[in-house]
Amino acid sequence: MAGRIPQDFINDLVDRADIVEILSNRIQLKKAGREYKACCPFHGEKTPSFTVSPEKGFYHCFGCGAHGTVVGFLMEHDRLEFVEAIEELASFYGLEVPRENAGNAAPVSPSAPLLDLLAAAADLFRDQLRDTPAAVDYLKQRGLNGRVAAEFGMGYAPAGWDFLLRKLGTSDDRRENLLKAGLLIRNEDKRVYDRFRDRIMFPIRDSRGRVVGFGGRVMDNTEPKYLNSPETPVFHKGRELYGLYEARQAIRNPERLLVVEGYMDVVALACHGIHNAVATLGTATTTEHLQRLFRVTREIVFCFDGDAAGRKAAWRALQLTLPELREGRQVRFLFLADGEDPDSVVREGGAAEFEARLAGSQPLSEYLIDNLKAETDLNSLDGQARLAELARPLIGAIPEGVFRDLLLDRLAGEVGLSAKRLGELLTGNAQPTRNRMPAPQQRVRTGEGRNSLIRRAVCLVLQQPSAAATITVPDGLFDLPNPGIALLTDLLAAAQENPGSKSARLAEEFASHPDGGSHLASLLVTDLHLEPDSNWQAELQETLEAVLRQELEKRFADLTRKAALGLSADEKQEMRGLQSRLAELHSRSS
Ligand code: UTP
Ligand code: MN
Repeated sequence: MAGRIPQDFINDLVDRADIVEILSNRIQLKKAGREYKACCPFHGEKTPSFTVSPEKGFYHCFGCGAHGTVVGFLMEHDRLEFVEAIEELASFYGLEVPRENAGNAAPVSPSAPLLDLLAAAADLFRDQLRDTPAAVDYLKQRGLNGRVAAEFGMGYAPAGWDFLLRKLGTSDDRRENLLKAGLLIRNEDKRVYDRFRDRIMFPIRDSRGRVVGFGGRVMDNTEPKYLNSPETPVFHKGRELYGLYEARQAIRNPERLLVVEGYMDVVALACHGIHNAVATLGTATTTEHLQRLFRVTREIVFCFDGDAAGRKAAWRALQLTLPELREGRQVRFLFLADGEDPDSVVREGGAAEFEARLAGSQPLSEYLIDNLKAETDLNSLDGQARLAELARPLIGAIPEGVFRDLLLDRLAGEVGLSAKRLGELLTGNAQPTRNRMPAPQQRVRTGEGRNSLIRRAVCLVLQQPSAAATITVPDGLFDLPNPGIALLTDLLAAAQENPGSKSARLAEEFASHPDGGSHLASLLVTDLHLEPDSNWQAELQETLEAVLRQELEKRFADLTRKAALGLSADEKQEMRGLQSRLAELHSRSS
């Protein structure tokens, strides 16, 4: 297995890549002024609203809101994982992708031995299944056929404490790696033994088909029913989806994927010819799951139990999905009756019954609106305001674009308001109400309030990195505690260090920045209402000063209010300092 690709290589590659060249091998681009236009490959359209900016190195569709860098395009269009996209790009330019620890005598990657052991374990479990009639009978009795069991590489981990330990743990090194791979456990007495014992084994494969972990089910009513591999260097529950690799083997480009709750659901559906189901690994759906799914398909159907836990999980999935929505992507929700799961539905009614249920699934918009309506009494003005209050964070989480507008229209129609009135309520003229729905898990940056200036500064640096070259950062700006300041600081430093950087390169480099890096792709295409030949540098300088001024003013106002109750000596001194600092900033800005 190969090591990490050095970030510098990625930066340079994204900088050097000509987005027009790469995209025109895949879609028909037409020159239009400084930019290029095309019919968007990500949603059906007749008039081109897909725009490519060679200078900034990114694309943006005004129709469906799709946007990103050349790397993002390759991931989305060619359905590649990040590393694959980098490799594709490098090979186009005839470059070898360097790996961080290449050249050492040591193994190329620390995960290589873990993957080898996991693969060996999967083989052993498969052989054991063949030789264990009780396990075969259990699977038969649950309606599974041998073909599907083989397709999913299912196996059986024998009873006892040392099956893998004896077969694979033949040296200290190998035992350490088996522990790291989650296949062995070491207890407090330092005794080492097999994690999976007397269980039906479901190997979990990554996108390249390598076994990275296992789920194991008991064959009786012992607890716990399922045991899963722990998080390891090669296995992350928030990332992997059971059955995704197998689904893509069966259907190269599935039109839709079903997200079900259990391993058994995935394999039972496959037995009935439904090969497009995947399951999370006993955890909630994550943004990363969604992004991986949308790389493979346009439509996701979440299947949940109809019980309270299922409803709760569904609402969480909805909140997480909103930021990923755009035209061309569809999400539906299927609720089964309490006590049912996809496995039991196909076993009783066959594929036809399950398909019928799917046909009756709810589109995301309908599910969202039904939920909001159930929460409010729309006959009262208070109820309307409350509805707006509930809808605000949800609508705000959806990227701007046709889907959001449609949802607003639909919501307005449903509640008997004009879209205009609803829009007013949503932009904050409504009175807040007491009961709130849980906020979406992702931070919503809607550009209102105090953080909008910080956001604007980030946009300015990102969209015109050269503007940062000769900026004087106002004293104290980087010390502010606000969200976004750390990202702004790092972006400014990178832009100053490399004044020739393309916007796209910065967006890629900081995409996983913990202070809101995931928003960079959309900030890249936020319209700042500036002409390309405006003075971006002056604009940035003013914005940075305005951020600082605003925060200092707020602190000053807080202290002023508090002064009525008395201030400490320190606070009095801070106020004097603030006063002169503000006077100075004001004189500079006027
Ligand atoms: P379910 O209890 O619905 O299991 O848990 P299931 O898939 O329908 O299994 P059968 O039909 O009883 O065999 C759904 C998922 O939750 C996780 C597993 O990923 C399981 O597939 N789970 C459940 C655990 O991780 N541990 C448990 O003890 C139970
Ligand atoms: Mn089940």
